[in-house]
Amino acid sequence: MRTPIIAGNWKMNKNKAEALALVKELKDKVSSLSGVDMVVCPVFTSLDAVCQELKGSNIKVGAQNAYFEANGAFTGEIAIDMISELGCEYIILGHSERRAIFGETDELINKKVKAVLDAGLTPIVCVGETLEDREANKTEDVVKEQCQGSLAGLTDDEMAKCVIAYEPVWAIGTGKTASPEQANAVHTFIRNLLASDFSQDVADRVRIQYGGSVNPSNVKELMGMSDIDGALVGGASLKADSFFDLVNYQN
Ligand code: PGA
Repeated sequence: MRTPIIAGNWKMNKNKAEALALVKELKDKVSSLSGVDMVVCPVFTSLDAVCQELKGSNIKVGAQNAYFEANGAFTGEIAIDMISELGCEYIILGHSERRAIFGETDELINKKVKAVLDAGLTPIVCVGETLEDREANKTEDVVKEQCQGSLAGLTDDEMAKCVIAYEPVWAIGTGKTASPEQANAVHTFIRNLLASDFSQDVADRVRIQYGGSVNPSNVKELMGMSDIDGALVGGASLKADSFFDLVNYQN
């Protein structure tokens, strides 16, 4: 009942020419695929061109960040409406790299989540523990705090529209994936949290992606788990063949 969603987080990779070359190849490869939502998230400077190229295709486009204010003196920031007008439908928020390198807090991420929802776009809200947290048995505490902080004050309807990405920081870009069971345990924990903080209906509807070294050889097993509804993929989303293998995991 939850449509799987697989998103490529290109991070700070690919200039405009490279981005266009990749999506031109991708859109033909995936044109006959259905039953899975596919999203690519290029850097800001390629968003316009990628949105134009993918118009009418079955691949959606997302941004990797945005600011919550509509306009004004916020040098270097980009407003959600500026992203939306290009044809983007998703915005990744609170990625662990934004949290760790750029100091984003749950409070800031919460403002962004609300603004993205107000603009009618879908936030992909990232949470996840560090290796230190996991080794100290704090995974659930950390994930709970991040979820409750970044999703505070949403209505049930708003919450149901969000996508959550569980990305253990120790598994990102390291080649170390959480085992399907390890990942699913946290996904189930998040879903139960949504049931108690919102409602069972909301919990049943929210799609929770796993992220962290997902690749064509582990995606099927991860996607087979009861509470894993998709993947947020960095490295393996940068080539057309491997992105195709990811979104085509059922075949
Ligand atoms: P990775 O990145 O697939 O390269 O581990 C995932 C992410 O950071 O979203």
